[in-house]
Amino acid sequence: MCGIVGYIGQNDTKEILLTGLEKLEYRGYDSAGIATLGEDGVHVTKVKGRIAALREKVDNENDATIGIGHTRWATHGVPSVQNAHPHQSSTERFTIVHNGVIENYMALKKEYLEDVDFVSETDTEVIVQLIEKLYQKHKSTKKAFGEAMSLLKGSYAIGLIDAEDQETLYVSKNKSPLLVGLGEGFNLIASDAMATLKETNEYLEIFDKEIVLVNRSFVEVQTLDGEVINREPFIAEIDASDTEKGTYPHFMLKEIDEQPIVMRNIIREYQNEKGELKLDKDIRKAMQKTDRIYIIAAGTSSYAGLVGKELIEKIANIPVEVHIASEFSYNMPLLPEKPLFLFISQSGETADSRAVLVKIKELGHPALTLTNVPGSTLSREANYTLPLHAGPEIAVASTKAYTAQIAVLAILAVDTARAKGIKLDFDPLQELAIVANAMEIITNQKEELEQLSNEYFASTRNAFYIGRSMDYHVAQEAALKLKEISYIQAEGFAGGELKHGTIALIEDGTPVVALATQENVNYSIRGNVQEVVARGANALIISSKGLEQDEDAFVLPPVHELLTPLVSVIPMQLLAYYAALHRDCDVDKPRNLAKSVTVE
Ligand code: F6R
Repeated sequence: MCGIVGYIGQNDTKEILLTGLEKLEYRGYDSAGIATLGEDGVHVTKVKGRIAALREKVDNENDATIGIGHTRWATHGVPSVQNAHPHQSSTERFTIVHNGVIENYMALKKEYLEDVDFVSETDTEVIVQLIEKLYQKHKSTKKAFGEAMSLLKGSYAIGLIDAEDQETLYVSKNKSPLLVGLGEGFNLIASDAMATLKETNEYLEIFDKEIVLVNRSFVEVQTLDGEVINREPFIAEIDASDTEKGTYPHFMLKEIDEQPIVMRNIIREYQNEKGELKLDKDIRKAMQKTDRIYIIAAGTSSYAGLVGKELIEKIANIPVEVHIASEFSYNMPLLPEKPLFLFISQSGETADSRAVLVKIKELGHPALTLTNVPGSTLSREANYTLPLHAGPEIAVASTKAYTAQIAVLAILAVDTARAKGIKLDFDPLQELAIVANAMEIITNQKEELEQLSNEYFASTRNAFYIGRSMDYHVAQEAALKLKEISYIQAEGFAGGELKHGTIALIEDGTPVVALATQENVNYSIRGNVQEVVARGANALIISSKGLEQDEDAFVLPPVHELLTPLVSVIPMQLLAYYAALHRDCDVDKPRNLAKSVTVE
């Protein structure tokens, strides 16, 4: 949530900040701003709305060589110009951008800043006013910055400029992501490497509660006590073209279409030269050792986790519980002797999941993170990481990360089963190759799916998705996809559960999408369809080849039954995409949302 970019260099400051913010817009997009510092002082430009509006408002004459920028997802205070970042101290000497939530901002305000007039409702303004107050004591920006950071409780990634110093960008972080990008004669900071790939691919990691002084020609990392830390930079292996839409109208459509390629990437990355499954030995040992796996995730990743539970239990014979991260932290179940925690997260930055990770590490339990961003917080702080190899996912609605998560979970399940000596007639690499081809067939049926979307969702207020066993989990993900991008109220239900109350909502014409991909429940789900049709529902049945019946609207190519979620979710993604498109919704940046949820 919220994106930060900062630059110190020779020229083009505004353009570098604006381009960086455009790449970070997925992190929040209700308001934005930049501050630049040059010979003629600090210039702050802010808007309510998107970076495009900011770009129009920015003064092109400005020749600054240092600056900071921010795109916001509101936490404290409504989206407005006043609450947009950057924020300034009362004298305008200090200017700050911040991502995160300061938990003790009220206490800090009371203790240090009672005489200060605040212009915004944000917790961020408290930080910059505090720095100014502490500057009066220390007469040193570095010391004031350091003391302010030591007083903050909560999550933050911060970039600060001092109007009296064109040589330094002051930087710190705690729990929120932030990286330093390294260049020749310039350096950058960003919430995500994607924001600065045009300028560099060399980065320096920052750890929590470090102070970083970023100059044009050097970067100094220190502890809060001023001890200098030496750290080697790393090269980010992201292809800049992966972060562009190309000829696609939306990132979401591009990412839906990329799913066959992602499956093939996963097959390639998880096999050795002999074409056999390849997995980290330590992960294998941890999987063999555990007596119960706890999958912790949020949103779409938790729905992938539900499919993962079925795969691990059915293939590797280990009991699995799936928990929503935001609940687990406050309501922990009784744990067995040897639990293994499996975090699933596209971004690797989800604050709710991280809160659980911190807690279970305190208890001494091992953690494995499945993420699309190796090097992210959840990846760094867990004992083991399994990368998803899906490439950057930019649309707020997750698509290719969901299918990548399920594919990697299937590989993990099979590897564990083999290590435990369980005999299987299931080769995941071969089965995933079949899935990739099936995905391609479905993504080539866009016209048909667009037509179905128009027919069922054009004017509806609500919709239901039903399924049994594996299909139930996909129904939940399908409903989330539809509601988050088209704003149609949608629910995913277990087919047999509707009649225990929710069927009261079925009226003439209510769309009910039913999935029929599981042989053992094919007849029962069709019975559930009859129940809603008898009450006026407009049923759309999607089935697997071999289980289809005459009334089915869409038939999926055959894949291994355990892997059907990988293909059945694709028509769901496309139905939601076209519903949003036809309602003129902002497909890639739905209202009220942000891609990386870094606040609890
Ligand atoms: C929905 C969506 C979210 C995320 C959730 C967790 O399309 O993308 O529900 O799945 O916010 O995010 P990650 O996977 O980054 O932890």
